[in-house]
Amino acid sequence: MLKRNKNLVVSLIFCSSIAASFSGWSQVPPSTESAERRAPVVLRPNEKAAMLSDMREYLKGVQAIVAALAKDDMDTVSAVAKSLGTINIVGRPLMFPTVSGTGFRDLGALVHMNFEEMAIDAKTHRNTKATLERLAPLMKRCVTCHETYYITDKF
Ligand code: HEC
Repeated sequence: MLKRNKNLVVSLIFCSSIAASFSGWSQVPPSTESAERRAPVVLRPNEKAAMLSDMREYLKGVQAIVAALAKDDMDTVSAVAKSLGTINIVGRPLMFPTVSGTGFRDLGALVHMNFEEMAIDAKTHRNTKATLERLAPLMKRCVTCHETYYITDKF
C-alpha cells in the first residue's frame, strides 16, 4: 500500500514537471512593463510617428554637423543647425499635459533653442571648438530625455 502510494507520488511529480516544462509554467512570464523605468509621455499613434520622424531628423542632422565641423565648414554647420532649429517637437500638441509631458516639453524647448543659437553662433564666430562646446551639452539633453521618457499611445 505504502509502496503504491510512493509510486503514485513519484509519477505525479514526474508528470507535472513535464507539463510545466512544456507549457512554460515553471518560468516567470517576461514583462516589458516592469522593466521600464522611464516616465511615459502619452501621444496618439500619428503624433508618436511624427515625433519619431523628428527624432530621426535630429540624428541625421547631428551627424551632418559633426562631419561639417571636422572640415571647419561653418556655413554647412550653420545651415544644418538652422534647419534642426525649425523642428519644434514642443509645438506639437501633447495628448495629456501630465507632469512628465511638461518636463518633456521643457527639455524639447531647450534643444530647439540650442540649435537656433548654434546656427547664429556658427555663422558669426566661425569657431569649430566653440560650436563643439555647444554641441556637447545639447546632445546631453538628447541623452537625458531618452533616459527619462518613453513614448506610448497607451494609458
Ligand atoms: C524632449 C525629449 C527628447 C529630446 C530632447 C530628444 N529626444 Fe530623441 N526620443 C525621445 C523619445 C521619448 C524617443 C522614443 C523613445 C522610446 O519611446 O523608447 C526618442 C527617440 C529617438 C530616436 C529613435 C527614432 C525612431 O525612429 O525610433 C532617435 C534616433 C532620437 N530620438 C534622436 C535624438 C537626438 C539625436 C536628439 C538630440 C538632438 C534627441 N533625440 C532629442 C525624446 C527626446
